[in-house]
Amino acid sequence: MSFAIRIHKTGGPEVLHWEEVAVGDPAPGQARVRHAAVGLNFIDTYHRSGLYPLPLPSGLGLEGAGVVEAVGEGVSDLRVGDRVAYAGGPVGAYSQQRCLPADRLLKLPERIGFDTAAAMMLQGLTSAYLLRRTCRVQAGDTVLIHAAAGGVGLIACQWAAALGATVIGTVSNEEKAALAHAHGCAHVIRYDREDVAVRVREITGGEGVAVVYDGVGRDTFMASLDSLRPLGMMVSFGNASGPVPPVDLLLLSQKGSLFLTRPTLAHYTARRADLEALGNELFDVVADGRVKVEVHQRYALADAACAHRDLEARRTTGSTILVP
Ligand SMILES: NC(=O)c1ccc[n+]([C@@H]2O[C@H](COP(=O)([O-])OP(=O)(O)OC[C@H]3O[C@@H](n4cnc5c(N)ncnc54)[C@H](OP(=O)(O)O)[C@@H]3O)[C@@H](O)[C@H]2O)c1
Repeated sequence: MSFAIRIHKTGGPEVLHWEEVAVGDPAPGQARVRHAAVGLNFIDTYHRSGLYPLPLPSGLGLEGAGVVEAVGEGVSDLRVGDRVAYAGGPVGAYSQQRCLPADRLLKLPERIGFDTAAAMMLQGLTSAYLLRRTCRVQAGDTVLIHAAAGGVGLIACQWAAALGATVIGTVSNEEKAALAHAHGCAHVIRYDREDVAVRVREITGGEGVAVVYDGVGRDTFMASLDSLRPLGMMVSFGNASGPVPPVDLLLLSQKGSLFLTRPTLAHYTARRADLEALGNELFDVVADGRVKVEVHQRYALADAACAHRDLEARRTTGSTILVP
């Protein structure tokens, strides 16, 4: 027997329960992993609240790192004892041990520890596909990244700067502004008190940015469109402030023949080859120091409710791990 966080109904952090669960042996194609560290992500709060519906009862969590304890029939490229990490479905990472499809696991390079892996897999693979696939950021581009001091934010800002982009980040307080500056942002906008689009126009000499990465959603969507240059790319990839209401497509024409996409990591990593390619790009930028991944908060996995409260109240910065 082992323990996991489970939900039986959707709601606030109080619906998270620490329960004894039976894990069993891996089915064909699966591996059983003992987690050393589990990642906390904003999407976990959407699953918990019901914004992204799950069949109930359910586990929670999409990111972990640990050691392979057993492999099921037909799994040939993993062995007991391998150090692995993953990001993505099926949900259930908030657990001490779990079985999951072996083809979702990436072997961890020796130089990347479990805590770092659990802190970076989901937010790092997301940064990888956003900056390298959805829109290929080039040296000389100016990009706007919202919630720059958050989990995705600190990784994406460093990575975009390393690609040669000028990064404008948005944050809600001075401590976060300092963090954003220290992690690749050439300019930081306090979106709690400044007009984002006006500031972006000032910074870019009236031109606007090539691309906006917007994980905040409802509160920033219109300012994001207004910050783009003609033919710019609006990447709406999250709902930290709530989901974006339906959009009038004519707006895209009026504001400069803009491109708009609403991507998700699952589609960019659905094929094993794509998962491996993005994983290798992430491991490379972390290993050579272009992107530094720091664990800013650490909670016992059994206290996941506390971690959810802090994340939703904007009290966290950077990446957070849950220790099983
Ligand atoms: N589509 C994908 O593939 C994908 C993958 C990963 C993550 N995401 C999305 O990316 C976003 C960031 O995820 P994360 O895990 O790295 O979280 P995070 O950025 O560490 O935390 C969310 C941040 O959003 C900002 N925020 C603005 N308005 C908010 C509000 N009303 N309530 C709470 N936070 C608010 C806060 O920063 P300030 O205090 O500075 O405003 C907060 O720290 C989320 O929307 C997530 O769903 C999408």
